Amino acid sequence: MQTTLTDSVEEAARILNSGGIVAFPTETVYGLGAGISHPEAIRQLFRAKGRPMDNPLIVHLYSTQQLAAVAAEVNQAAKILIERFFPGPLTLVLKKNPAVPYSVTAGLDTVGVRCPQNPVAREFLRLCDSPVAAPSANLSGLPSSTNWEAVYEDLDGKIGCLLRGKPSAIGLESTIVDCSGAKPVLLRAGAITLEQLQAVVPEITANAATNEQEPPKSPGLKYPHYTPKASVVLWDGKEESRIENSSSAYIGLSSPPEGVAQLKVCLNLEEYGRELFRFFRQCDAEGISIIYCELPSSRGLGRAISDRLMRAAGIS
Ligand code: TXA
Ligand code: MG
Repeated sequence: MQTTLTDSVEEAARILNSGGIVAFPTETVYGLGAGISHPEAIRQLFRAKGRPMDNPLIVHLYSTQQLAAVAAEVNQAAKILIERFFPGPLTLVLKKNPAVPYSVTAGLDTVGVRCPQNPVAREFLRLCDSPVAAPSANLSGLPSSTNWEAVYEDLDGKIGCLLRGKPSAIGLESTIVDCSGAKPVLLRAGAITLEQLQAVVPEITANAATNEQEPPKSPGLKYPHYTPKASVVLWDGKEESRIENSSSAYIGLSSPPEGVAQLKVCLNLEEYGRELFRFFRQCDAEGISIIYCELPSSRGLGRAISDRLMRAAGIS
């Protein structure tokens, strides 16, 4: 398949509206979209990413006015979160409207809904005929794409169109809160922090460690994620500070161990989050075999970064 590279939201929306799949920028990571009223495009999207069919997709809206078309019920907690954080890097899991096909929700009676803030994403979504189902625009299991070049590397020739935009401002996938049950639960940490969520909905809790007996709350969490080809090793700054490996790299906030070949010292957690996946991909391109990553504390944005690092290291 020929992939059209474009800067035009009109052209990208035309391709999506005629049943194509289109990668587009958002403030979290790039998304890979298909219209929810195009079943063949949804199937193709799973194939292009190599995504397991039991992992549901997030539905993207340009305005909360479209909510009623995808959700059957918006409870009080969800209303507060929408009022405070939409548009933005937050996904809510809600009871689904029958109009949303089960191919999008992987058979679940709930649907993940997000309204991105990035102006290019919003304009693109506004021009699309229907809400847009979109996972992150990377091959399944690899780090999410935070710039269009990464999307191109993974998906050129497999998708109809790549709408080029700026690098993602946040660089980590959206925070996910499940509002479909009696109590709201944080399923995935992101740039909207647990502390910020609890400031407006105090009863939100973090997802308890998954019980083996129960199906995972967020199906995607059971798959390996964010993994570069290099091994990811968590580094607390206290161990041996000289690393004798010419193909190792470091990313973190503290001063690095000596002897690494590639190095990214970030000024703050925001920069760490924005740079993490790009750095993973850069290290793979340069043949790095071990990436030492400083594990931040789990406060604020540190929770989302730690979560991605532990998954990349194969610890959770
Ligand atoms: O920031 C983001 O959320 C990006 C951009 C493109 O919006 N999208 C993204 O999609 O990260 P994806 O597919 O890579 O991750 C979506 C996660 C998966 O872990 C999936 O299992 C979970 O959301 N999810 C989707 N629908 C769900 C549902 N109904 N119930 C529970 N989890 C759901
Ligand atoms: Mg993903």
